[in-house]
Amino acid sequence: MTEAERFILKRGEFETTYIIGEKILKHIWDYCNDNQKAIFIVSKNVDEKFQGYLPDFGKIGEGSIKFTVSDGENLKNIKSYQKIMSVMLENQIEKNSLIGYVGGGTVGDMTGFVAATYKRGMKLMAIPTTLLSQVDSSIGGKNGINYGGVKNVIGTFYEPSVVLADTHFLTASEDSYLKDGLGEIIKYAIIEKTDIFSVISQFSDLHDIKNNSQLTRLISKSIRIKHDIVSRDFYDQNGIRAKLNFGHTVGHALESISKSAVSHGRAIVTGMLVESLISKKMGIAEDDFHSIITELMNKFSIKPVNTAQYSIENMLNIIRNDKKARDGKIYISIPVKLGEMSLNAVPIEIIREALDEFSRNR
Ligand SMILES: NC(=O)c1ccc[n+]([C@@H]2O[C@H](COP(=O)([O-])OP(=O)(O)OC[C@H]3O[C@@H](n4cnc5c(N)ncnc54)[C@H](O)[C@@H]3O)[C@@H](O)[C@H]2O)c1
Repeated sequence: MTEAERFILKRGEFETTYIIGEKILKHIWDYCNDNQKAIFIVSKNVDEKFQGYLPDFGKIGEGSIKFTVSDGENLKNIKSYQKIMSVMLENQIEKNSLIGYVGGGTVGDMTGFVAATYKRGMKLMAIPTTLLSQVDSSIGGKNGINYGGVKNVIGTFYEPSVVLADTHFLTASEDSYLKDGLGEIIKYAIIEKTDIFSVISQFSDLHDIKNNSQLTRLISKSIRIKHDIVSRDFYDQNGIRAKLNFGHTVGHALESISKSAVSHGRAIVTGMLVESLISKKMGIAEDDFHSIITELMNKFSIKPVNTAQYSIENMLNIIRNDKKARDGKIYISIPVKLGEMSLNAVPIEIIREALDEFSRNR
């Protein structure tokens, strides 16, 4: 059994305990007590697939319940939010009860939003089960739901008290879930000056990574990188956090236009490739990011989205509605050189050219 990693990261008066490793779910009991009622929002898929491995949530404290949800992007809407709120009221969940989730980023985004808003905030425990949710969405406090065809347009900033990132969920799953999260790890390697670039460059393929000790190491490094960036700009106000959005302007447009048929991870890696072209066209890129990212993607068999199947004008319309649009310009953090990003007002015409070039070369 691989040694688990445990650390506490602080931001202002908030602190989150992270436990990462193989079969670390038993630590759930360290953070629950018999007198505390709990509600766990659990992905139906994960509940079925990991039957017998997941704890009996009903045993946490008297009246505790598990509520299973059909996950995926369709969960992140107002109807599901209302449904969960009703279940909480019906079961007399109190402000000092515990709320937790088990699932990927969609269950996390929804539960985080519920935790932040139910009775103005409850203690939140995160049990992310995809690599993407373990290295990205469970860190940094952002949560939210989609509305009017716009992703994450309703949401808050709210941190979990405990994050249990169990690699068993990953080693027992299909490679596609790993690939999605690797896209975000490639992003960290490009945007931050740490050793994560050399670490992932050393792996020869996906199977090199798919073991509990390598995953524990990569997840811990990623959590620290994201936490460090977020702590310097929690409310996304001074441009530091914006670098985490690398690939997301075009990526979100791809998720929207495909009606979420394209997974978040694949959309983001494709977005990184297109946004690298933008950086080159604007004369900002000093490194050949398109080649660097493509090489890493090939290594891990991650395929970019065939953007030629979508109308560029429709994608641009989605991008114009993005949270990063102001005064007719789109503010995008694009790469300068490895570990250095620059927040730029990008004219829509350049985005059109980059999308066109990328689509023609598919
Ligand atoms: N809040 C943030 O900071 C942040 C950051 C990045 C992404 N996100 C959000 O995260 C979401 C994407 O997260 P995701 O990729 O985890 O998607 P997801 O929650 O839709 O999970 C993907 C699929 O994997 C299944 N699944 C989950 N764990 C599994 C496991 N261990 N084995 C087998 N199947 C499993 C789920 O049932 C689902 O079908 C998007 O909505 C995105 O906007 C949020």
